[in-house]
Amino acid sequence: MSEPNLLEALKAANESPSTRLPQDTMARKTLLTELRKLNVELESPMDSIMRYVFQPHQNAMIRTAIDLGLFELVRPREKNGTGAQELAGETGAEQSLIGVCSSLQKNPVSKPDLRAENTSVRVMRVLVTMGIISEFGEQRYAATRISKTWQNPPLRDCSKDLFDESAFSLAQLPTFLKQTHYKNPSDTANGPFHAFNTYMEVQEVLLNDFNAKEEAVLLVDVGGGRGHDLEAFKEAFPHQEGRLIVQDLPDVIDDIRQPVPGVEAMKHNFFTPQPVKGARVHFFHYIFHDWPDQQCHDILQQTAAAMTKGYSRILINDWLLANQGGPMFPATMDINMMCLFASGE
Ligand SMILES: C[S@@+](CC[C@H](N)C(=O)[O-])C[C@H]1O[C@@H](n2cnc3c(N)ncnc32)[C@H](O)[C@@H]1O
Repeated sequence: MSEPNLLEALKAANESPSTRLPQDTMARKTLLTELRKLNVELESPMDSIMRYVFQPHQNAMIRTAIDLGLFELVRPREKNGTGAQELAGETGAEQSLIGVCSSLQKNPVSKPDLRAENTSVRVMRVLVTMGIISEFGEQRYAATRISKTWQNPPLRDCSKDLFDESAFSLAQLPTFLKQTHYKNPSDTANGPFHAFNTYMEVQEVLLNDFNAKEEAVLLVDVGGGRGHDLEAFKEAFPHQEGRLIVQDLPDVIDDIRQPVPGVEAMKHNFFTPQPVKGARVHFFHYIFHDWPDQQCHDILQQTAAAMTKGYSRILINDWLLANQGGPMFPATMDINMMCLFASGE
């Protein structure tokens, strides 16, 4: 395709993404992979380098937006969006930090002493360039699919925690690796600091052979937090028999404010003997990536001792990293786990 035609095709796709872009997950991911390669090809090396070098700044602005509650405050375009002034009023942040200071824009020379404040869009500008917020007119912002998704409390809290826990230790990571002569971190005490398979697979692999006698446990979500995965399971399989148990540390279980109906909550430390014997499934979601191999081994041994031979299953949901051509998210998550827990994906 010639350059003008390619440009026209891309512009057309951008103008009506919902009709021009595939909705099917695989097709979407394939297209994204090609577009990312094209993006790198199209950038000059300096463009790419600048993009990489300034990524932490973008994350810092996302973290700031979460603190200020900007994703909740910015309305969709159908509701005329939200102005910088309103955002400043609601958040208590200076308008110049959020967006252009309008009095200075109209008459920049009348307040020369405040020139430093005329910093135009600062937080919002970065979010707009990232496509997280859209801009339509001066100082007016609208929510996007991304900012709306980010209003989800668990996702918002998780993004916040990830930044708070990782940012400092990531900054130390190159020094730590240098000091340890680039030895692969494996000591948790000396380190620099999720969905089920498809419906049919679950049905076939786990449910068909479930021995649904009284009191039989179908699924134990070990280290399952407050039970969100079992809640999702109940939604997907509302008529499934068998007990569902979420286990986690006492602090987490005591913190469950809204128990999921039909899900039993149990205090359990997975380094101690598994009290639920003979369950059909012990499920581990995002557990093993938190621990070095020795601890993973210990957790699995405690589980194995509670299993019924030929019947019980261990189900692990974690990332497996490809040796070649893997996607970015698990690759960077692997570094995050190395950095925080001397573990890995
Ligand atoms: C990364 S989170 C994963 C939570 C959940 N499985 C999910 O996928 O969202 C790790 C979970 O392991 C729990 N955990 C950590 N140490 C534990 C232990 N020794 N025994 C039981 N749970 C533990 C944490 O409280 C946390 O809920």
